[in-house]
Amino acid sequence: MQVMSSIADAIGRTPMIRLQRFGADRGHNLLAKCEFLNPGGSIKDRIAWYMVEQAEKKGLLEPGGEIIEATAGNTGIGLAMAAALKGYKLTTVMSAKVSLDKVNMLKALGSQVVITPIGLSADHPDNFVNTAHALAQERGAWLADQFNNEDNVEAHYQLTGPEIWEQTEGTIDVLIAGAGTGGTLSGAGKYLKEKKASLKVVLADPIGSVHCDRFHRLQSKSSSYLVEGIGGDIIPQNLNLQILDDAISIGDEEAISTAYALMKKEALFVGSSSGCIAAAALRYCAKLEAQSGERQTIVAILPDGGRAYMSTIYDDKWLKSKNVSPEKLLAWRNQ
Ligand SMILES: Cc1ncc(COP(=O)(O)O)c(C=O)c1O
Repeated sequence: MQVMSSIADAIGRTPMIRLQRFGADRGHNLLAKCEFLNPGGSIKDRIAWYMVEQAEKKGLLEPGGEIIEATAGNTGIGLAMAAALKGYKLTTVMSAKVSLDKVNMLKALGSQVVITPIGLSADHPDNFVNTAHALAQERGAWLADQFNNEDNVEAHYQLTGPEIWEQTEGTIDVLIAGAGTGGTLSGAGKYLKEKKASLKVVLADPIGSVHCDRFHRLQSKSSSYLVEGIGGDIIPQNLNLQILDDAISIGDEEAISTAYALMKKEALFVGSSSGCIAAAALRYCAKLEAQSGERQTIVAILPDGGRAYMSTIYDDKWLKSKNVSPEKLLAWRNQ
């Protein structure tokens, strides 16, 4: 244990935890990479800090300048930490889908917050990403642009991938993660495949997102879903579909009840994207069973924690307002 020079030094080196009870009957070695234990509460701390440092090096961000970003919340939180430490102004643009907890959190962390209407397609000018682009241009601010900025992918190539490799001592066979921007899968997946050509990279995708269907070369239309932070209605530039070996779709109820199960069985209190990814890990185990293959080491990324969702997936009233039965979720969790 040593003294750190700032909270930024606490980013990364997150625990890798063996799941002893969750999926115990599946016969594989399931490991959880606990990204929710980053100081800002999510995997996005890594890319936020890395993108800001690279922008400074490239001369894109002047002292006292302004950062703008379109975010599902977590990247904004990571950027708010960087902005506070380095003296930048920050404006985050979010769709009204984002939980109130995250909106209030960003305000508390010093960000100006702009909310755009829910459910606008990627080509709509008022969509949260397009709004952020327009604002950055108008104000001459630096747009972090996590969906296109290659330093997002690079952060995971430089940091997340090597950590997973070292923590598993090279025994990892399968990496499972979701894709919001695609940075995690494209960066960590690339690093791990360079280390081990046989490694499989698997996308966990919410039903309603088009990412899984595009991987399977199917045309489909996006529809709304409750899981936050992953999936989408277009393939972002930072999602390299070529790196994927498989893609699994998970419905909202399965994702949320699986998040509940991670708490009940492993005391891991996580958000809905973690539930989606862990559910996909179980489905992948079932696929492996059908092939009667050898015991595999499977790493599931858990991107963020449950506290950001106290007013959504951990609130019975909210669930009912979305036509989800809390009792049904608990029954599934207890299976
Ligand atoms: C909660 C949550 N989970 C997962 C992700 C996906 O990570 P990535 O953008 O690296 O694909 C995000 C990011 O958008 C997120 O906010």
